[in-house]
Amino acid sequence: MTTTGETNTAPPTSRYRLAGHWREARPEQELKVLSPVDGSAVGSVHEFTVAEVDEVFAAARRARGAWAARPLTERTGLLHRFADLLAQNADPIARVLTMEIAKPCNDAKDEVVRSADYIRHTAEDALRLVGETQFSDAFPGQARNKLAIAHRVPVGTVLAIPPFNYPVNLAVSKIAPALATGNAVVLKPPSHGALSALMMCELAYQVGIPPTVLQAVTGRGSRIGDHLVTHAGVDLITFTGSSGTGTALARKAGMVPLLLELGGKDPAIVLDDADVEAAAADIVSGAFAYSGQRCTAVKRVLVTRVVADDLVAAIVRRTARLTVGDPRDNARITPLVDPEAAAEAERMTKDAEAAGAVVVHGGGREGNLMRPTVVDHVTEDMDLAWVEPFAPVLPVIRVGSAAEAVRLANRSEYGLQAAVFTCDIDMAIQLAARLDVGTVQVNGRTARGPDHFPFLGTKASGMGTQGVRPSIEAMTRVKSLVVNLREKDLGGRT
Ligand code: G3P
Repeated sequence: MTTTGETNTAPPTSRYRLAGHWREARPEQELKVLSPVDGSAVGSVHEFTVAEVDEVFAAARRARGAWAARPLTERTGLLHRFADLLAQNADPIARVLTMEIAKPCNDAKDEVVRSADYIRHTAEDALRLVGETQFSDAFPGQARNKLAIAHRVPVGTVLAIPPFNYPVNLAVSKIAPALATGNAVVLKPPSHGALSALMMCELAYQVGIPPTVLQAVTGRGSRIGDHLVTHAGVDLITFTGSSGTGTALARKAGMVPLLLELGGKDPAIVLDDADVEAAAADIVSGAFAYSGQRCTAVKRVLVTRVVADDLVAAIVRRTARLTVGDPRDNARITPLVDPEAAAEAERMTKDAEAAGAVVVHGGGREGNLMRPTVVDHVTEDMDLAWVEPFAPVLPVIRVGSAAEAVRLANRSEYGLQAAVFTCDIDMAIQLAARLDVGTVQVNGRTARGPDHFPFLGTKASGMGTQGVRPSIEAMTRVKSLVVNLREKDLGGRT
């Protein structure tokens, strides 16, 4: 897609930070960030070498002790200042974000503001992290002569790997809890989104977060990815991305704690008694926000035959209103970051059509700009029923009962979220109990936010729980101090 218009504000790329110090960038190690909007160069980042990655981890190891030793209120105070500066810079960062990942400009700004809010919430919640004490006599045969004091300590160095779709928000949701709890962080931003992530890091340094405590490593995953995830300097990996990459990472990482948020094929289950218009509104926004490039997008509709015609008509009516085009104009459907995702979505759509499904809206694409597409009468034998397209394609599967919807929902390899639309709360609760997913949304679209809610996936959708409190806990480990108590003569009666 070709567009013209205002130029973007990219961060300086003539130098890069290594182990806290500026280095001159060398052209042969420059990686251009090309915009999915128009193919223009948004900027470039340094391609780290394996030896430089080693320097980064060594610097993190040297820096983290002093960081962990600073009073918690100092660390969270810096995070509050970081959040304020990030919010003040929402516009320039959002402009770069829009060009880097073709995110609609208003959504890009929301992402930055939401990230500042996430940092503040984390800074507040980290102050309330408390341990627990236990006396020994709660266990059979034990006297009351031991006291265990379990408290939380930082894991050490956290490797944070966010994806391209929320390069700022899903970076801070890893960085903030790690820093608040006293860890050093090595951030590996995605290739698309690296410039926005680097801008964000510079703001952190401006408020006094040491550039050795938070370090960014840019470059192609194919070149340094394995070295990063297998590095002896890593104490925890927090990764958001595809299930394929997450599974490969888990195999390589070995005995390192993992926090993984991976793919999804979230169903929206619509039952006979649902408010069809309200369900359609949620489904369309859930399926097509950021052109379907959200792990939490509604990726299939399972609707009972009784209301299927009405629901599909309402979905199509609303989908037809979505604007398609340039993210700088805040179009709702914008060019996809991964051109292969567009080709794959088109292939799945065509295959489904050839096998008897009906494309009731959209279907076509121009390069990486895929029109919002609704495919009705999708059946179990089609890829579209099971494969996750990171694209604006919504399959509709008609079912005979709530039980069939549950069976199809659970047959998926994924288990991130599900939405259930019904006016019968008993039915909603019973259905939710049978759905093998991390979260069930009752009468609402699937979504991670608000960001302090627990966020997790079952099966191929992830490992561990995120949120604010769960992420804070995940970035720490329990350390138990056992005090052995000896009888003392107090020298008189009490
Ligand atoms: O897909 C990533 C996820 O973090 C997006 O957040 O709240 O829009 O589902 P949300």
